[in-house]
Amino acid sequence: MQQTVSVKNIGLRGVTVADTKISFIDGEKGVLIYRGYRIEDLADRSSFIEVAYLLLNGYLPPKGEVEAFERKVVEARDVPTYVFDALRTLPKTSDPMDVLQAAVPILAAADPELRDETRDANVRKAIRLIARLPVVTAAWHRIRNGLDPLPSDSGLSHAANFLWQLTGEKPDDETAHDLDVCLILHADHTFNASTFACREVCSTRAHIYAAVAAGIGALSGSLHGGANTRVMGMLLQLENEPDVEGWVKNRIDAGERIMGFGHAVYKTIDPRATYLKKMARRLGASRGLEKWERLSKLVEKTASEEFERRGKSEIKPNVDFFSAPVYHMMGIPRDLFTPIFAISRVAGWCSHIIEEKFAEAQEKPMLYRPQAEYVGNYCGLLGCVYEPPEARAGT
Ligand code: ACO
Repeated sequence: MQQTVSVKNIGLRGVTVADTKISFIDGEKGVLIYRGYRIEDLADRSSFIEVAYLLLNGYLPPKGEVEAFERKVVEARDVPTYVFDALRTLPKTSDPMDVLQAAVPILAAADPELRDETRDANVRKAIRLIARLPVVTAAWHRIRNGLDPLPSDSGLSHAANFLWQLTGEKPDDETAHDLDVCLILHADHTFNASTFACREVCSTRAHIYAAVAAGIGALSGSLHGGANTRVMGMLLQLENEPDVEGWVKNRIDAGERIMGFGHAVYKTIDPRATYLKKMARRLGASRGLEKWERLSKLVEKTASEEFERRGKSEIKPNVDFFSAPVYHMMGIPRDLFTPIFAISRVAGWCSHIIEEKFAEAQEKPMLYRPQAEYVGNYCGLLGCVYEPPEARAGT
C-alpha cells in the first residue's frame, strides 16, 4: 500500500519531486546556474538566443550553430494572420497576460507538428513558441492602441525585433542589449510555480502548448511574475511621497507585502536582482532618470532594515524589484513587464517540458498527483451513508 506523507501548508517547499539537469539555485549563497553556467557569466558574455539553445540542448552552441539556431527562430516569427484576427476580437482592455495565455492554443492550432510527440518535433515547437510569444505580445499592444501589427525584421536580434514590433522604432544598441540581458536573467529558475505548472500539465501527456499556457497563467499571479508590475505601481505611487520610509514601515506594520521582496528559495539577495540593480543605476545615469534608481534604493534600504529589525533578514529584493524600474526606464508600458518575463521564461518552460516528457522513469513520476486531506462533511442520501476510514477504524 502507498505510504501517505503529510506535508500540508508548506506549498511543497523543500519537497523534491523530480531530477533536473536544466538549472540549479543555491538559495543560501544566492547562486543561479543554467546547465552548469552561472547567470552572471551568461549575462556578461552570451545572448538570449544562445541561452535558449543552451537550455534546450544542454550545451552552448558550437561555432556556427548559434547562427543556424537564430535563423530558425527568425523564420518562426511569421505568425499566421488569423492569430492577429483572433486578437482583434478581444476587448481592448484585456490584460496582456490573459491575451498571451489565450493566444497559445491559437498558436497550437497553427502548428503542423502539434501531435508529433518526438523529441525533435518538440524542440521545433519550442522554437516556434520562443519566436512567437514576443510577436503576439507586441501585436496585442499595437492592436489595443488601434494600430496594425508590424512584420518582423530579420536583421534584428530577438530583443531588438520585439522592441521594433512593439513601437515601430528600431531601438538603440544599448536598449536592445539591456533587454537581451534581462531575457537571459529571466530564462529559467528550476521548479518555480510556473515551471512546475508546465511540468505538471505535460506529465498528463498534454502537448507543449497546453503546458506553456498553464505556465503563463501561473506566472501572471502577483506572488510570482506578476509582482514586477506591482513593484512599478508602488514606485509610481511613491514618486511624490514625502515620507517614503514611513510609507514602507506602515505597510509592513499593516501585514501587507512589499512587492519584489522575499523568495521561496533565496535566503539572501536574488543574484538576478543584484545584476539588475547595477543596470538600473547605469540606465538612470545615462537617461537622466536617476530618480527611479534612487527611489528603488530607498525602498530597498528601508524595507531591508525593517525586515532585519523584525528578525526576517532573509526577506531581500527578488528579480522583480529591479526589473520594474529597468523596464520603466526603457519606456516599456507597465502591463507588459510580466509578458516580457514570459517571453524569456518560455525558453525555460519548453526545456523543462521536454525534460519532463523524455526523462527516465527513475528521474520523475509518470504523473504528478498529490492528494489533499478531506475535511468536508459526509452526508447520507437515500439511506446510503459513507462511513469514513477513521470511523471504521474506531469500531
Ligand atoms: N513583504 C512583507 N512580508 C513578507 C514578504 C514581503 N514581500 N515576503 C514574505 N513576507 C513575510 C510573510 O508575511 C510571512 O510573515 P509571517 O511569518 O509573520 O506570517 C513570512 O515572511 C513568510 O512568508 P511566506 O509567504 O510564507 O514566505 P515565502 O518565502 O514562501 O514567500 C513569496 C515567498 C510568496 C515570494 C513572498 O516573499 C512574497 O509574497 N513576496 C512578494 C511578492 C513577490 O515579490 N513575488 C515575486 C517572487 S520572485 C518570482 O516569482 C519571479
